[in-house]
Formats: sequence, C-alpha cells, structure tokens
Amino acid sequence: MSASAKPALLGGPPACPQPWPAWPVFDNRERQRLNAVLESGQWWFGERVREFERAYAAFQGAKFAVSCTNGTTAIEMGLRALGVVEGDEVIVPPYSFVATASAVITVGAIPVFADIEPDTLNLDPADVERKRTPRTRAVIPVHVGGRMADMDRLNALAARHGLRVLEDAAHAWGSQWQGRGAGTLGDCGTFSFQVSKNITAGEGGVLVTDHEDLADLCRSFSHCGRRKGGPWYDHDYLGSNLRLTEFQAAVLLAQLERLPDQMARREANVRVLDAALDGIPGIRRLPAEPRMTRRSHHMYILRVDEAVLGLSRDRFLEALCAEGVPASKGWYQPLYRNRVFQDAHRGPAHGIKSPLAAKGVRYDTVSCPVCEQVCRDAVWIAHPALLASESQVRQIADAVAKVAAHAAQLR
Ligand SMILES: Cc1ncc(COP(=O)(O)O)c(C=O)c1O
Repeated sequence: MSASAKPALLGGPPACPQPWPAWPVFDNRERQRLNAVLESGQWWFGERVREFERAYAAFQGAKFAVSCTNGTTAIEMGLRALGVVEGDEVIVPPYSFVATASAVITVGAIPVFADIEPDTLNLDPADVERKRTPRTRAVIPVHVGGRMADMDRLNALAARHGLRVLEDAAHAWGSQWQGRGAGTLGDCGTFSFQVSKNITAGEGGVLVTDHEDLADLCRSFSHCGRRKGGPWYDHDYLGSNLRLTEFQAAVLLAQLERLPDQMARREANVRVLDAALDGIPGIRRLPAEPRMTRRSHHMYILRVDEAVLGLSRDRFLEALCAEGVPASKGWYQPLYRNRVFQDAHRGPAHGIKSPLAAKGVRYDTVSCPVCEQVCRDAVWIAHPALLASESQVRQIADAVAKVAAHAAQLR
C-alpha cells in the first residue's frame, strides 16, 4: 500500500489488514512433554527442571542456571546471593519494569536511579559513575528489549570500584555480546518467562552465572534455605520457596527448542524493518550495536521526533494502531515516578511497609532527563509481529510511512 493512501484513522483501509501471529505459541512438543509429566506422577522439582536448567545454561553459555518462579524473584535471589544488604545502594535504570528497582527494596537496599543512553535506552555508564557513592554495592544493567547495555564500560567501572553486577536480562534470551551470552558478563544475570516473553511457561524465571558459590546460594535461597547435599529438614540459611514445577520446565524445554528458529526469523524481519523505516522524517530507529553478535528482539522500539513529524507520539500511536500495527507506548513513566518510590519516605497507610520508610530516602527530586524524554516519545512494537512473513512486516513500515505522510491531516 502506498504512503498516499488515506489513513485508517480518517476512514481509509488499514495498512495491516491481516491478523498478527498469535502469542504464546505451542504445538505437540508442549503437549507431549506436559502429558509425560502428568503420567509420570513426578510433578514437582525433578528431572525436567534440572534438564531445563542444564539446557538454558548451555544456551546462554553459562556454567550454572538456577530456575525460580519469575524474573522478579530471580533478581531478589541474585541480589541476596551477591551479599546486597540493608543500607547498600544499588544503581538501576529508571527505564525498566518495576521489578528491577522494587527487588532492590525488597532485599532492604536502596535503588539509586542513573539515566539511560538515548540510542540504546540502556543504563548510561557515565551517569552510573556520577550516581556512585561509597555505599554503592551493585549495579543492575537492564538489556531493554534484548539490546544489551554497554557491558564493556559497565564491567570496567564495576571492577574499578569493586561493585557487583547483576544483569537484568529479562528480555535477552539468547542475546550475545561479542559472542558471550547475556547474563554471563556480570556476576550473574536473570531472565523472565512470563507470558509476554519470547520463551514462556506463563510464569517462570532463571538466574545464570559462572560462579558456583553464587549458584549454590541461589539454589539454597530458592529451596527453603537447604544446603547442597544436606538432610531434608536441615535449613541452614534464610530461604524462600521459589521452585519451578515440572509442568513449567516441560513447557520451557519445548519453547527453548523452538527459540533458535524464532530468533532467526525475528532477526531477518528486524533487518527488513530497519531498512524500510530509514529515512522517514520524524521517525528514529535505534542504531544496531556492532558488539552484539546475537539479538533476541523482545520488542522493536522506535522514537518519534514530534517537532519533525508534526504529530505527538500519542496521536501517532493512535493512527498506527488504527492501521493494524500492534504498538504501544511501553513504559510511559520513569520508574521513580511511581508512588512506591515517590511515597517511599512516608511509607504506605497499610501493612506492606517499604523497608525504605522513615529512612530519609527520597525520590521526589530525582530526574533522569533522557529517560523522561524516551517515556514521552517511544513506540514499542510487540515481538510476535516479528514472527510474521516478510511481506506482512513490510506493512508495518508502510503504516508508519502513511501516518507520517498524513501528519498534517491527523493532527
Ligand atoms: C526488565 C524486566 N525485569 C524484570 C521483569 C520481571 O519478570 P517477571 O514478570 O517474570 O517477574 C520484567 C518483566 O516484565 C522485565 O521486563
């Protein structure tokens, strides 16, 4: 369809008339593995969980993987294993899902927000350096959408100052930095298998690491504080119950088998989309990172330059959705704008008290200008669309071009 066609929002035909690939996907692989678990009577934390952990560690190129209930508890478990305790500061980006920062509070530490880079939307090492204090204990780079943070600079900074690095790789299944898997560049890395993610069992999470001591501590914490090889009712450490079930592991094993093909398809479609979107005035795509040797592509992110496009991001998005593009604004506010942080010093009027209450930590003056701008101008396209045929993916670019060409009428 040409860019001159009437926009769908003004009554024209949509640029993307067909449905997009459904998500989540499954086939007989999931069915057979799930049936096998049902029939086996072994529903609980057994061979399939271990098999998945081995397979996932190998997939990321890590020595160890410890599974758990979700990506949030994976971060909490990792922070505890790294020795982050009450009063420590942990530097996090404000452009993320809440778990990146709330997990820090859950373990009693203080999230400190450093800004992101405009081209990667990931933690800016220069701002991490500025926000660092003698109390900083760790840093959590988030690999937003599977695009990895600058691990060279972040690791160098961490080594200079003796900081621990936990990669929030919730979106980075299979992403690689110069051949090394996400989650293996820092001390450890965490992943989510929640239903919107590129590999899913509805819920689920995992932590990968090359350090056996960390893996053992995570296993202990996730398994009621038991010690490796210890008697069943011996609980040596503080722990919780974060175990994955055999059903989840069965589904995840099937999903992992399918992932390499899906990654290849998303990568090919992203290249098509990148090329097709180049040169549309007011639309900025994120530049490719040459140090990344494999990319997961959780969501495809564009930035809208309102002054050049002549249309606000929200109106652009409305018009794009009317064209049939599965797009959203994504994280529309920096994490620190959420009440859980804004009210942290007061504490809530109910029983779930933040460990930060009455500790003098305030977020009402925090400002990360790059993140604030990105929250105002980003557009996310959901990853299932990247599994469509090349011709259907081209329609996304047609839709963008059409909306951009009609900005004046759409205003
Ligand atoms: C960047 C990031 N970190 C952590 C999480 C938490 O994962 P989960 O939903 O599995 O707890 C998410 C989930 O969306 C996420 O996007």
